[in-house]
Amino acid sequence: MATISATCYLFILSWLCPTTLCGTVLEDLKNLHPPPKFNSTIITNCLNNPSLRYCNSSPMNFDEIFKFTIVASHLCNESKNPNCIESFPKGNFPIDVLHCTQIHDLDLSINEFSGDIPIQSFSPLTNLTFLNLSYNCFSESEEQSDSQFFKRFNASSFLHSGALLDHRKFFTLKVVILFVGFPMLVILMVIFLAWLCFQRPDLLPRKLQRRRTTFTPAILNAATSGFSSRNLVGKSDVVHIYKGFLRDGTQVKIEMYWDEISREKYKKFVEECKVLSELDHKNIVRVLGWCKSRKFRAVITEWRREENVEMWLLSESAPPPPWSHRVKVLMGVVECMRYLQKEWPQVDYDLNTNSVLLTQDLEPLISRFRVVDHNTSSTRNICKFGVFMLEVILNRKGEEKFEGDADGFIKHMRRVDPEELHQMIDERMELSETSFHQAKQAISLGLMCIEKSGSEQPSLAFICNSIARAYKATLVLPSANHTRSHADNRFRGHKT
Ligand SMILES: *[C@@H]1O[C@H](CO)[C@@H](O)[C@H](O)[C@H]1NC(C)=O
Ligand SMILES: *[C@@H]1O[C@H](CO)[C@@H](O)[C@H](O)[C@H]1NC(C)=O
Ligand SMILES: *[C@@H]1O[C@H](CO)[C@@H](O)[C@H](O)[C@H]1NC(C)=O
Ligand SMILES: *[C@@H]1O[C@H](CO)[C@@H](O)[C@H](O)[C@H]1NC(C)=O
Ligand SMILES: *[C@@H]1O[C@H](CO)[C@@H](O)[C@H](O)[C@H]1NC(C)=O
Repeated sequence: MATISATCYLFILSWLCPTTLCGTVLEDLKNLHPPPKFNSTIITNCLNNPSLRYCNSSPMNFDEIFKFTIVASHLCNESKNPNCIESFPKGNFPIDVLHCTQIHDLDLSINEFSGDIPIQSFSPLTNLTFLNLSYNCFSESEEQSDSQFFKRFNASSFLHSGALLDHRKFFTLKVVILFVGFPMLVILMVIFLAWLCFQRPDLLPRKLQRRRTTFTPAILNAATSGFSSRNLVGKSDVVHIYKGFLRDGTQVKIEMYWDEISREKYKKFVEECKVLSELDHKNIVRVLGWCKSRKFRAVITEWRREENVEMWLLSESAPPPPWSHRVKVLMGVVECMRYLQKEWPQVDYDLNTNSVLLTQDLEPLISRFRVVDHNTSSTRNICKFGVFMLEVILNRKGEEKFEGDADGFIKHMRRVDPEELHQMIDERMELSETSFHQAKQAISLGLMCIEKSGSEQPSLAFICNSIARAYKATLVLPSANHTRSHADNRFRGHKT
């Protein structure tokens, strides 16, 4: 008789065989006797491996054990498995065993079967009343909940078989999830939400976002790919200027100040930013918000082309700006000045040709602002505009000596004879008769603006009306300016 040594061991409790097999099993059970060394082999096996099932009974019934081996070997023969005299091989369920449809009791526990239990193949075994598939490594059965099979045999047939979810383990798991996992999840979500709200509010759904004017360092970090050098467009000791993209696609300019300022100044900075972010006019570079952190403060404005009015006037690559375009720029600036005067008198602004930017559609953009304690002086603003207007109309080269010194320029202009100024009109405009007339009027207006005493200055409304009239005229006759300009050179300014 073969030794029964392997841990995987087929164990049949009782057996009713198909007729062909039956005779031989019954005969074998009746006729075969244990070989001489059977008792000692079993004992040796048990000493070597006490986990073998038959070692558990005490006292050991060698006769019974021998009978089981006979049945097992017949069943093994039936399963056409060449090695199973010793053991079933690891792996799939020995499905051929189930061809013996008369099986009453089947115990295949403590094997190393894996894969699926062939549930369908059990249905012909109508007389099967006891089944034990415990302690195997089956895959969890997908249909376990509703399968007839799992109702036919209760859970004790599938202990640690892998086929059923272990309910106690499942229960503990549920308890753990309920009392540990769930609170943890809630805490994590709260932390995450808090982080979102306080660090990255831009990641919240758009509906939950208010119009934002305060930016967090985390938002700026994300907008500039971690303040990467690729996004750095300008740098000095105290200011770093970055180009960034907000999550909604807006391209922004981020000016970060690294200087240390007093608490007072800091508060003023925030107040100023609050005011500036309220400004809303088509000719203003919009301040989107600010950011305060322990290390730096930052102002975030919309990203604009860097071209300013000065570059535009002096550009050698592009054709010189014609009269109509210059009037349009003056118009935009005046409109913006009226808006500021009416709505935000406490906002002071810069009106240099190099601080007023230009959009592609030639809309001027006032880009430098300051909030002052008292309302700005309209006399000063009008004077600034006068200078700006003269600079836009006159030949730039004549003023080189005054560059950087507006007062010098103003003094010079006040002294100079208007007729002489007409000669200084930028000749590259190639003005028509009408436009030349308009330009002269504009110069007079400009000179009025830089008048010494405020009482002789025109009002902003007056300036606005005059420029609007000139602007409308350029709109009505856009082509006439050009067609006539070539024929009529008399009106071109001449530079000496
Ligand atoms: C084996 O044990 C049984 C008792 O279970 C005994 O009757 C039999 O004689 C023993 N056989 C040998 C060879 O020792
Ligand atoms: C197994 O089956 C073959 C024939 O299919 C037979 O010759 C052999 O004796 C059988 N062995 C056992 C242990 O029943
Ligand atoms: C089940 O047992 C009965 C009675 O012993 C028998 O008639 C029947 O054929 C058995 N069924 C199968 C599928 O072997
Ligand atoms: C499972 O069925 C067996 C009989 O097959 C029975 O002895 C046992 O009590 C049942 N266990 C449960 C938990 O129902
Ligand atoms: C199946 O076998 C295992 C291990 O031998 C045992 O713990 C379990 O009680 C058995 N189940 C039944 C239903 O007899």
